[in-house]
Amino acid sequence: MKMLSVRPVIDGYDSCQEFAGAVGIDENDLIITNEYIYQPFFGKLNLKARVLYQEKYGLGEPSDEMAEKLYADMKDGSYKRIIAIGGGTILDISKIFALKNVSPILDLYDRKLPLVKDKTLILVPTTCGTGSEVTNIAILELKSRHTKLGLAADEIYADSAVIIPELLNGLPFKFFATSSVDALIHAYESFLSPKSTPYTELFADKATGLILKGYMEIAAKGEEARKPLLKDFLMASNYAGIAFGNAGVGAVHAMSYPLGGAYHVPHGEANYAVFPGVCKAYQKADPKGKIKVVNKIICDILGCREEVVYAELEKLLEKIIRRKALHEYGVTRAELDDFTDNVMTRQGRLTANNYVPLDAKAVKAIYESLF
Ligand SMILES: NC(=O)c1ccc[n+]([C@@H]2O[C@H](COP(=O)([O-])OP(=O)(O)OC[C@H]3O[C@@H](n4cnc5c(N)ncnc54)[C@H](O)[C@@H]3O)[C@@H](O)[C@H]2O)c1
Ligand SMILES: [Fe+2]
Repeated sequence: MKMLSVRPVIDGYDSCQEFAGAVGIDENDLIITNEYIYQPFFGKLNLKARVLYQEKYGLGEPSDEMAEKLYADMKDGSYKRIIAIGGGTILDISKIFALKNVSPILDLYDRKLPLVKDKTLILVPTTCGTGSEVTNIAILELKSRHTKLGLAADEIYADSAVIIPELLNGLPFKFFATSSVDALIHAYESFLSPKSTPYTELFADKATGLILKGYMEIAAKGEEARKPLLKDFLMASNYAGIAFGNAGVGAVHAMSYPLGGAYHVPHGEANYAVFPGVCKAYQKADPKGKIKVVNKIICDILGCREEVVYAELEKLLEKIIRRKALHEYGVTRAELDDFTDNVMTRQGRLTANNYVPLDAKAVKAIYESLF
């Protein structure tokens, strides 16, 4: 059994200037980023690379339409390296551009195009959530099919995942919160996955500690208290990425996809909306199994007894980001059946990683409890 694989080399720099000098950015590079991230950190360096700003190609989380438009603009150049600097949206879109055959993207996602990597891929995260820089997954919304789909293939692993904490200085609190809660959920779900190993647990444990201790500090001192902790959070999301890249994520992600897809709720926020419901269902279904280990990790940090672990965790998370009930997004009770159906029929790749099997009745009951 494979216990751990980390494909990209992980590089770290104190500043963007140091990074740009070390990798020798030149005219053979294509940088994909956001203008408001690039200008303050790289603008004054006058780099020779071509730079494309993702926001010019569409708003929100990534879609095939956005990626097709970007690809149309980059086709006229020939590049040796793709350097993506941004949140999960930018990293996921850019991953597919390291391939020789990209378009039509629907064909790529239907696996009709041969997967051949012909460019070096450097991924630099600017949020503290997805861990996408170390995973082999690129999730796009396929607009014509009204669904999000992940392309998971070793050909889209980065060659280098780059940690530069100063990039997170301008990350607004809202995105700090939704992305870091995603990382916490990656750690939690990977720990309880049947594919977890002592190695993935090591990374998940460490990520959980960094995130929860950081949240406690922020809950006590306010939003600005996150500033000295941004490196911890960036490392935590990377650790959690390594954990779930190997062990997978389960019901929380599976149940958040119908919500995210139907109501365009950002990924981390949609996960957060279903997280407490799944935790409580797991705890009720099998309180004596491996969940005890995870509960102990959380209790030790929060300083609480196991009987109240999920109530205390919810209290802490609520101080960081308010969780909305499903109806606040516009979801109707009738739709809970469609959401449940989606989970049971389309999210099997994820639900295979559940701590305990959840049948349709259990999934519906979780949605009801969150309604
Ligand atoms: N491939 C994977 O392994 C994986 C895992 C989890 C999630 N995802 C995907 O990642 C996406 C979500 O990524 P995300 O949570 O990082 O959010 P995001 O990339 O959508 O970014 C959220 C917002 O923050 C802004 N932003 C990002 N970094 C900033 C910075 N440093 N300063 C100022 N603004 C900044 C972005 O422009 C955007 O408006 C989803 O599409 C999700 O499906 C992928
Ligand atoms: Fe996630």
